[in-house]
Amino acid sequence: MGDLAPVFYEVFEALPRQGPGSRECTARALALCRGLPAAPRIVDFGCGAGAQTLDLAALTDGTIEAIDALASLVERLARVVAERGLTARVRPVVGDMAQPSFAPESVDLVWSEGAAYTIGIATALAAWQPLLRPGGHLAFSHVAWLRDDPPAELRAYWQREYPGIAAPEATLALAREAGFEVVGHFPLPAAAWWDDFYAPMEARVRDLRAVHAADAEALAVLDAIDEEIDMHRRFGEHYGYVFFVLRRPAA
Ligand SMILES: C[S@@+](CC[C@H](N)C(=O)[O-])C[C@H]1O[C@@H](n2cnc3c(N)ncnc32)[C@H](O)[C@@H]1O
Repeated sequence: MGDLAPVFYEVFEALPRQGPGSRECTARALALCRGLPAAPRIVDFGCGAGAQTLDLAALTDGTIEAIDALASLVERLARVVAERGLTARVRPVVGDMAQPSFAPESVDLVWSEGAAYTIGIATALAAWQPLLRPGGHLAFSHVAWLRDDPPAELRAYWQREYPGIAAPEATLALAREAGFEVVGHFPLPAAAWWDDFYAPMEARVRDLRAVHAADAEALAVLDAIDEEIDMHRRFGEHYGYVFFVLRRPAA
């Protein structure tokens, strides 16, 4: 999200989360990660404002290092962490998830919701696997086709926006090629798109249209965001986010 129009940040920075997800989905993926230590060391890559970071803090007794490239989101998370008295367990840091600075085999659980695609799934898998102790888990969510008969309009939309979209099996194949075992995967339900993401996003876009009524460039960005929401409203059964839970094989 480095070089986008300012209005894009005005939309995204105000939202409860910066991608589809929910506490229920985070909990379900976490439950698939068997054999974690009592206080696991967790790294949350592309944490955004940290909705899932805070859920992980509530759902575990572990420590969480939350990494994002965008300082404004990391600062927002740091404020909430301080307010909730979590500074001993949660450390928000500005950083590049493509070049993680953690020691090899030092992490029990790598987490990443809706962010891995920004550096490419294969790159993310290769960069994150060495950080995991043998037997450690990687849980990440990523967009996928859920049906194999998308309408032409939707196919053209994704061809423009993210041509790498594929069936979940393609991501699972990449995971196995990278040396992971597949523990499980599940699609996110519709509520995970709407409740804390598209519904507040739609409201925010509506407000910002009034603020930027004379700014054609900003309005074009807002139009593109509304188009994304409209695509999901009309064609949401054809694609979605899938949570993938993988395991680095035990030594
Ligand atoms: C779609 S948002 C998801 C945020 C959060 N996980 C959530 O679900 O609410 C993707 C996040 O990845 C971050 N990001 C993109 N490239 C990054 C990089 N190379 N290193 C760290 N963070 C990055 C963006 O700043 C953004 O906050």
